[in-house]
Amino acid sequence: MTITGSRASDLATRDGLSALERAKRQPLILGLFLPIQNGGWTISSAARNTDWSFDYNAKLIVKAEEAGFDLAFGLAQWLGSEGHGGATKYRKFSIDPLLVTSGVAALTRNIMLISTVHVLYGWHPLHLAKLGATMDHMTGGRWGLNLVTGFRPNEIEMFGLDPIPRDERYVRAAEFTDILDTLWRSEEDISWEGNYWSLKNAYVSPKPVHGRPILVNAGSSKAGLAYAAKYSDLIFITSPGGAEISAALKTLPAHTAEIKALAAEQGREIRTVINPHVICRDTEREVDQVCKAILVGEDAPAVNSLVGTMRQGDQSSWRGHERRQRIIGGNVQIFGTPEQVVEQFAALKDAGCDGLQINFFDFAPDLAYFAKNVLPLMKQAGLRV
Ligand SMILES: Cc1cc2nc3c(=O)[nH]c(=O)nc-3n(C[C@H](O)[C@H](O)[C@H](O)COP(=O)(O)O)c2cc1C
Repeated sequence: MTITGSRASDLATRDGLSALERAKRQPLILGLFLPIQNGGWTISSAARNTDWSFDYNAKLIVKAEEAGFDLAFGLAQWLGSEGHGGATKYRKFSIDPLLVTSGVAALTRNIMLISTVHVLYGWHPLHLAKLGATMDHMTGGRWGLNLVTGFRPNEIEMFGLDPIPRDERYVRAAEFTDILDTLWRSEEDISWEGNYWSLKNAYVSPKPVHGRPILVNAGSSKAGLAYAAKYSDLIFITSPGGAEISAALKTLPAHTAEIKALAAEQGREIRTVINPHVICRDTEREVDQVCKAILVGEDAPAVNSLVGTMRQGDQSSWRGHERRQRIIGGNVQIFGTPEQVVEQFAALKDAGCDGLQINFFDFAPDLAYFAKNVLPLMKQAGLRV
């Protein structure tokens, strides 16, 4: 028996395509935004079983993969002992996305696993290059890094560091990414004297399966978009017009076109992935009932806290989003019957969105309902192959 020492060699080349290439062939990339924090994106005490535990999230990822989803994604946050407070202690509990994706690597075979890392919170690129290369092998080339710079001043202060002005954050992120990329590709030892990091005779093995892992970011500012255009394969976008679908559809075409033009100037392609919160039931009446129950159960202090931290930090993603939209969640909200949901997905595609990563309210049953009732209609509509 030949032992290759690499799970990657078993998995990545079955159809000769990487997980990213497979996803890019879909008319609309499909992802799941994991609830690895308690409450997920819905700040309400309305009854549901969504849970932040590893076990719950691992099962969701396996189910999403079975249903044909292309990616699963976990956000990263740093909060104090009460989370966002309120009756639900919203996001008091959260597990780390890098470790969650590593934990599900061996449970999955096709789905991209994307972890958020705040690279300016004390990381050295050599550490992340090693972890990323290892994750890339554990997943057979399915691991993605959502590289964020961190916009909440209280977060960076937790690490004993001073807040960094936004544009400078992206200058530093660019240097960090250049070092990662060099370490991932170089067959020789690297020495590097940068403005923010240095290396002496550093080397990373194993080399990633497809040159480098999948790179993602979630910038919205000019500096954030320029970074994405130069480095990222996928960009998590928000609607500049707020979360209401018709307002979002008015502003998204210009936004997505700008991002793609910026990437084209760099001789690159980038896929735009938006984050809808989907509430889908057989009838509009049932959808209204779910929305009403969420709104009635609003955890007001926690909503105020989340909205406050979004306003406080210098970030551009959530400008134009109303407070009441944060109770249900999502950076665009898609409510309706399966047919209505698919119509709205098609409109997002027409507005230049290449993919969706979806939040649900009650994740496990809502994902099962989605797989049974919405995915077949997406196929009929030519949104999935
Ligand atoms: C889908 C999505 C996921 C995000 N995930 C994170 C995250 O996990 N941690 C974080 O600090 N910021 C996260 N962000 C926030 C962005 O990093 C933040 O809004 C960014 O700072 C905005 O872009 P800008 O820096 O160009 O203003 C996310 C944003 C979006 C749209």
